[in-house]
Amino acid sequence: MCGIVGFIGRHDAAPILLDGLSKLEYRGYDSAGIAVRDKNGDVEIVKAKGRLLNLFEKTDSGKALHGTIGIGHTRWATHGEPSETNAHPHISGSDVSDATVVGVHNGIIENYGEMKDKLLRKGYKFYSETDTEVMVKLVDYYYKKYNCPPGEAIAKAMVRVRGSYALVLMFKDYPDEIWAARKDSPMIIGICDGETYVASDVPAILKYTKNVYYIGNMEIARLKEGSAEFFNIDSEPITKELFEITWDAEAAEKGGYEHFMMKEIHEQPRAVLDTLNSMIKGEGNECKIDFECIGISDEEIKAISQIYIAACGSAWHVGMATQYVIEDLAKIPVRVELASEFRYRSPILDKNGLVIVISQSGETADSLAALREAKEKGVKTLAVVNVVGSSIAREADYVIYTLSGPEIAVATTKAYSTQLVAMYLLAIKFGSVRGHIDKETYSYYISELYTLPDKIKKIFETKDKLQWFAAKFVNVHDVFFIGRNIDYAVSLEGSLKMKEISYVHSEAYAAGELKHGTISMIEDGTLVISVLTQPQLYEKTMSNMVECKARGAYLAAVTTYGHYNIEEVANFVTYIPNVDAHFMGSLSVVPLQLLGYYLSLNRGLDVDKPRNLAKSVTVE
Ligand code: BG6
Repeated sequence: MCGIVGFIGRHDAAPILLDGLSKLEYRGYDSAGIAVRDKNGDVEIVKAKGRLLNLFEKTDSGKALHGTIGIGHTRWATHGEPSETNAHPHISGSDVSDATVVGVHNGIIENYGEMKDKLLRKGYKFYSETDTEVMVKLVDYYYKKYNCPPGEAIAKAMVRVRGSYALVLMFKDYPDEIWAARKDSPMIIGICDGETYVASDVPAILKYTKNVYYIGNMEIARLKEGSAEFFNIDSEPITKELFEITWDAEAAEKGGYEHFMMKEIHEQPRAVLDTLNSMIKGEGNECKIDFECIGISDEEIKAISQIYIAACGSAWHVGMATQYVIEDLAKIPVRVELASEFRYRSPILDKNGLVIVISQSGETADSLAALREAKEKGVKTLAVVNVVGSSIAREADYVIYTLSGPEIAVATTKAYSTQLVAMYLLAIKFGSVRGHIDKETYSYYISELYTLPDKIKKIFETKDKLQWFAAKFVNVHDVFFIGRNIDYAVSLEGSLKMKEISYVHSEAYAAGELKHGTISMIEDGTLVISVLTQPQLYEKTMSNMVECKARGAYLAAVTTYGHYNIEEVANFVTYIPNVDAHFMGSLSVVPLQLLGYYLSLNRGLDVDKPRNLAKSVTVE
């Protein structure tokens, strides 16, 4: 959940490290630091509490540090509050001048307490509250105890710790090298023009190279200027395949928008179209959903008895929305699970079931663990992910890649929308293979999906109205989102957007459930936002709105053009285009994304990097 970078080359390292960290700040932004080794082999460490900007200022944008080898880190605190002392890099000694090992880490060392006690008994002293300082000192301990090469010392520490880590270390005795090790937390290594980069994620090095190595679990790497060697936990050399990244550097820039979130909201039509085109082949009525690249056969699809969807955050909301679509089109029972609950519930899974794990980053620890739980139980797994080569993608039996490109804003928008589309295609494909959808209906659904990009663009025309509404409610405290069926699932996402980036307490409720308790919270002026896009449930939800109005609620509604009678009940209405009811979630979510954005903006908050959150949570 932190961002780490490393560099060895001919250029001064500090500016490159800071630039890389600025591209990873969505992973954690409560403190940061860099360590640079100069030509005399001395290391200088600079750390700063708060945003990366403070580190830029402290280092004069890196110009104050000289040396062509260095490591850096931007933090999302787990052990020890955000502070300069707890910020990374951490050292093996009490002072950098006598530090044998300097390191940065992303992940959690779960048994760090036990290791710390061991090291205290060995005379080590600690200056921070972090698990990372313990890991760096543990490596130092084995390095000195066995007088062994860095790789062996790291391996000895790895087999003794539990948890997750992407670790990047510099050893005093090896001034021209950087060492890296990984278990569960993401890490990539890039080489370009004789210079070597290591980072938590692609955006950090995309500017320099598109050719990357993915270091595997329990693997170690020795990085030198322009080269990388890989070893397994027994220090035996291993070869790695070089992957080419399809994204370009611009994709990780704001492209003229004030915030990444607004840019990514506006990229949804393109992202949805790219994702459709990646899995639909042929023209007109000959269009076919092609799952060949996914690797699941029609026979396997016919044999599926049950689908379990496991995910976190907004990805879980995609599961909640598409369970209705899969059950209705493919006639397969669907259970949607919170990944963090799924993994510890030792779920009873049907052997002929399919576990679908949805994740933008492909690195969310709980979702990765849910995938492993399913594999352990011998159930087939399918991942819907946005990041090529991510852990969940590499460990799943089948993978559907969404094509939303790099998503930088912590609150997801375009990745959410491409996950919806991927799951729609899965529902139609499974439904047709299992004989529940005839040829004509199949073509109809595909043609409906291809209307989504333009219809999303149409919704952007209502931005001003939503901006006005957000300004009106800039000081709102409690908000209720209500809806039925897919509208309820979209309400969950709308409510999360409001909480994530505007810090407004809001709850989403199945509209029919409100009267069984929560309606007691509705009083004069309480803002209730309703989503009504399901034709067969429109009247039902209207009645629930009327129940709220009777208690003094201020009613806002998202519904489709043509339903103008809603203005008799609602105080504010924003209309969206129509599409087949199964796919309405892709349109009704857009006004709610914009509402969350404008409310955050009006409240003067950091839209892209909301407090206490991170883009991908790689620890439990
Ligand atoms: C949170 C992100 O950390 O993780 C959310 O802020 C996201 O936007 C959730 O929905 C799950 O992440 P992922 O990468 O598994 O989809």
